[in-house]
Amino acid sequence: MNIGNNERRLLKVMLSEPSKSWNLEELLSNTGWSDQVHVAGAGKSLEESGLVEVEESRTTLISLGDKGSNALEEGLLESRLWDWISNQPPESRNMSSLVSSGFGREEAGPGIGILRGLGVSIVDGSFVANDAEVSESIEKRIAFIKSLSSGPLVISELDSDLVNHFSSRSGLIVSEDSISRKWKLTESGTKVEESELSETQMIGELTPEILQTESWIGAEFKPFDVKSPAPIPAGGRSHPMKALIERIRSVFLEMGFSEIEGDFVQSAGWNMDALFIPQSHPARTMQDTFYLTEPENVEVEEKYLDLWAKVHESGHDTGSRGWGGSFDKIESQKALLRTHTTVNTVRHIAENPTTPSRVFGIGRVFRQETIDRTHMPEFHQIEGIIHEPDASLPMLISTLKTFYSKMGYPDVRVRPAYFPYTEPSAEVEILWRGEWLELGGSGIFRPEVTEPLGTEWPVCAWGMGLERLAMLILGLDDIRQLYQPDIEILSKMPLL
Ligand code: PHE
Repeated sequence: MNIGNNERRLLKVMLSEPSKSWNLEELLSNTGWSDQVHVAGAGKSLEESGLVEVEESRTTLISLGDKGSNALEEGLLESRLWDWISNQPPESRNMSSLVSSGFGREEAGPGIGILRGLGVSIVDGSFVANDAEVSESIEKRIAFIKSLSSGPLVISELDSDLVNHFSSRSGLIVSEDSISRKWKLTESGTKVEESELSETQMIGELTPEILQTESWIGAEFKPFDVKSPAPIPAGGRSHPMKALIERIRSVFLEMGFSEIEGDFVQSAGWNMDALFIPQSHPARTMQDTFYLTEPENVEVEEKYLDLWAKVHESGHDTGSRGWGGSFDKIESQKALLRTHTTVNTVRHIAENPTTPSRVFGIGRVFRQETIDRTHMPEFHQIEGIIHEPDASLPMLISTLKTFYSKMGYPDVRVRPAYFPYTEPSAEVEILWRGEWLELGGSGIFRPEVTEPLGTEWPVCAWGMGLERLAMLILGLDDIRQLYQPDIEILSKMPLL
């Protein structure tokens, strides 16, 4: 018969009384096993072979909680209070002497509530009760607690009023659902021949040691059941956001881009003025941007302040007329948390104005947003530029298309948009479940941006939301789910 040794041993025991329903203890002592896992395992596989029937019954077990064990030693609170009250001369059977007695506030307070529940009333501050009745109820409670002193009892064997009562008080009793099982031979189980049940040496795992000897020749091999339930190993893994960032990184690297980084703390000048965002732009106000008090300012090279001032006021040599008004260099040096990663790409151009480059960065940005299903004050952007003599709008669009197809979204379209720093400007959308979703902005930097940086080449630029993309890929509908430190949920998110 194609069953293991444990199954053979269990069957042999059960065949000694073929019509008996066996409980766990009986099977353990008769098989000689100390671990119930063997009974459960062998029982289960015999059940699957139709030789054994397993009956499960659910019960609730009641045992003492921490406070219950204390009560066993020190006495139940009501019992100690009642002893004290009963031993007082009539004139001292009142609240004020109780308060000055040894019972602390934390016991006297709840204690009075419990006594009231037992029928003790307080009349003009004195305790009034039918003493015999109160004592009797307390005795019952003590007996209940004592009955649990030697281990859990099945709920049906206990007085249900007392179970309800003690369940409503914290820590005295604990109730636990338990499943108890009984094992019984089926019709075909009773027909198994004893002679088939001798235990044999079976090889469960072929090790190099076994192969070196000849003991495997003629041995029986334990059947290997690939369908049997097994624990799912909970190994470590990257956080889905980390994994996604890694994937984006490898896609851009594969496309020939290099990675750049930058600081969270920036000057308003580099974050905004360099991008020709007018100093009066509403997004620059405190409602949208986190300005810092420490440091309050970040120094900016005079050369750039001068150039931005000229460009903003009158367009300088760019052919633009600028925004007019007067440019405030103090405003430019205010410190803030970067509101977009475009600050990294413009600085990169300023540092390498005559070297063609294709760079990207994935970084955290900060905006004063109210947290909701789609907004957080901290999020990430995927930013990039192509800075070279022949950079063009078609090149920009095909680059974004290539990027998103490599990420698994081949349908990409762009729509006209507006940013103060690009012309033309385009919004990038991808097709997801039949709907076009906007993922970010892009365009060709305006001369007002590139001239002060020292370059004459066009620059394709884009900046896209990482969280939006992550939500699509992970199938989430709330951005906050990305950052909940819940191992259970995280471990079930798809591997990226
Ligand atoms: N900086 C823009 C944003 O934060 C995106 C963008 C980047 C647009 C580059 C155009 C060019 O939404």
